[in-house]
Amino acid sequence: MTARILNGNDIAAALRAEVAQGVADLAASGGPAPGLAAVLVGDDPASAVYVRNKGRACAEAGMFSETFQRDGATAQSDLLALIDRLNDDARFHGILVQLPLPDGISESAAIERIAPSKDVDGLHPISQGRMLQGQPAYLPCTPAGVQQVLLRSGYDPGGQHVVIVGRSNIVGKPLSALLMQRAPGGNATVTVCHTRTRNLPAITRQADILVAAMGVPGAITADMVRDGAVVIDVGINRVDDAARRRGYRLVGDVDFDAVAAKAAAITPVPGGIGPMTIAMLLSNTLDAARRSAAVAA
Ligand code: GUN
Repeated sequence: MTARILNGNDIAAALRAEVAQGVADLAASGGPAPGLAAVLVGDDPASAVYVRNKGRACAEAGMFSETFQRDGATAQSDLLALIDRLNDDARFHGILVQLPLPDGISESAAIERIAPSKDVDGLHPISQGRMLQGQPAYLPCTPAGVQQVLLRSGYDPGGQHVVIVGRSNIVGKPLSALLMQRAPGGNATVTVCHTRTRNLPAITRQADILVAAMGVPGAITADMVRDGAVVIDVGINRVDDAARRRGYRLVGDVDFDAVAAKAAAITPVPGGIGPMTIAMLLSNTLDAARRSAAVAA
């Protein structure tokens, strides 16, 4: 079998176009331009690229965005004071604190400081708790992006065995909660594997849908994948490559060529889940602006 390539760039572009239409509709009904504040601390190069791409995508969708950049020596108290200020700033309907944060700053302290009503990244414990309980919530962007790729490609997770490798707070844990919900796009049987899982290949081979989210280049090899599985690669890893102008290339957590020869469908890296994360962030920010307009009305 040669896998169908699930093109995240195309799906994300369709989603961004829907968001742009929503932004225009909101403006036509007298609502605000959705505003996103992005906070970038330190000099992680990948984070800088993500934040730049988020700003560009906001502008293309007709949204307002501003990046608040702080150097790596910023004190946690200063970051929390900035978040307080953004919570009170009505121009911003959503706030995103880019992760990872430098050593010495608690990521959980920063995320918990964001007003839950502005948590468009869906990482606040209140957002995640609401999602876990099946209540309306801002969905975390990468898990929501994975769900949209599956649904919009015709792979409803309902009744499928989804095996997720990785248990991070950003991807593995919330994705497991999202796909097990009794709700459209949910209803999966979910297994979560991690570094302490015994006989990982025996479990991943049971997956109808296999999600790689452990951040280890090429870790999912062909022997770990059942013929005809759908493979979603959430990893974005930089590996040295002297042949490239930048000196590196991006690879996922899946050994792409070998797995693509076996799977029914697979997301590439780059151009798979990465662009979906940004599209879901815009969608959440539009929702936040709609809610603030409804409250003001
Ligand atoms: N770093 C990598 N992915 C993400 C994400 O989805 N949100 C934030 N805030 N930081 C990230």
